[in-house]
Amino acid sequence: MKYNFDQEINRYNTSSVKWDEVDTIFGGENLLPMWVADMDFKVPEPVIEAVKQRAEHGIFGYTARNDSYYEAIIGWMERRHNWKVEKDWICHAPGVVPALGMLVRTFTKPGDKIIIQPPVYYPFTNVVEKNERVIVPNPLKYKNGRYVMDLEDLENKIDQDVKMIIISSPHNPVGRVWTKEELTQLGNICLKNNILVVSDEIHFDLILKGHTHTPFASISEEFAQNSIVCTAPSKTFNLAGLQTSNIIIPNPSLREQFTNTIESLFIGMTNTFGLVATESAYRYGDEWLDQLLEYLQQNAEFLTDYINQYIPELKVVPLEGTYLVWIDCRDLSLEVKQLEHLMQKEAKVALDEGYIFGKWGEGFTRMNIACPRTTLEEGLRRIEKAVKSIRGVASK
Ligand SMILES: Cc1ncc(COP(=O)(O)O)c(C=O)c1O
Repeated sequence: MKYNFDQEINRYNTSSVKWDEVDTIFGGENLLPMWVADMDFKVPEPVIEAVKQRAEHGIFGYTARNDSYYEAIIGWMERRHNWKVEKDWICHAPGVVPALGMLVRTFTKPGDKIIIQPPVYYPFTNVVEKNERVIVPNPLKYKNGRYVMDLEDLENKIDQDVKMIIISSPHNPVGRVWTKEELTQLGNICLKNNILVVSDEIHFDLILKGHTHTPFASISEEFAQNSIVCTAPSKTFNLAGLQTSNIIIPNPSLREQFTNTIESLFIGMTNTFGLVATESAYRYGDEWLDQLLEYLQQNAEFLTDYINQYIPELKVVPLEGTYLVWIDCRDLSLEVKQLEHLMQKEAKVALDEGYIFGKWGEGFTRMNIACPRTTLEEGLRRIEKAVKSIRGVASK
């Protein structure tokens, strides 16, 4: 089946955070939403069918995960990621961010240190600080238009209070797909220093041409025993509203501790539709995903060409994975708030401004390109017009 990602679908009045809340959240009118990470595409047809069929049944009582559900996940991990996952390793959580919060609470104590690699998905900071743990930033290095991990800095930051590192793999917002070598070096440092690796791999299926995602726990048995891999079908298949994620924990002792936390909060049950959608996506979603990746690749190329040609003040950081493009706006020579004003008030495009990912993101902006090309083009036109209006002004 050929999917039509060019189709524009009106998402207003669906209680969409991205569309219905954008004006309130950003404080504007008629903003074009290119921010929060969900897509303006319909999910694969088999998923819609499975959910419809389940809805027709008409009874939505407490729902248990069954063998067929686990088989679908195991099949996906093996087929798409060459990763053999055992059924017992798969724990449920109502979302990756809630899982991160629970992992922090389960495996660290208040006052312990947790490493993150900014600029990074801002809830990492929240789950650490709101649980009274201490952030240790290990900022990424931006060299020649590409981000890399700073492993020397990582080693220098480690002391006996550091208990955990949370990585984003692939990395939101800089769009890197970490290589096996990079992950291996990081993993060895963590093993040597008894630091538990929490690898947030929610974007793991969104990998562009020429890049390969490596599940952290697939690298070696030692890494598997010292890590927790957070996965979900939500980014891949646009199912975030169904609140279903799979937290993969090969180490039985770590798994038992995490399960105890889940049970203490009584949140172990699965959303009826989340279960059905996850299973059908993982069983029948390959073809749709392959076409989506092709479309995202073309969107990324369209955006890069457009910016190079018409808005040369901006520099696109090459996108390797995710559908979130990190754009270097520093040549505009604007203060953080001026840049935000330009995008939100002048261009009327809602983007995630770089500073929300930590001070290392200042001067950058993040654009969600999981939308029809017409929407992307409209966003770029608006930004081009706004930048034109200040050309020659900002630098005076
Ligand atoms: C790195 C990362 N982790 C987690 C999430 C959200 O996960 P969930 O909706 O399952 O809590 C996102 C969403 O953008 C993300 O980018």
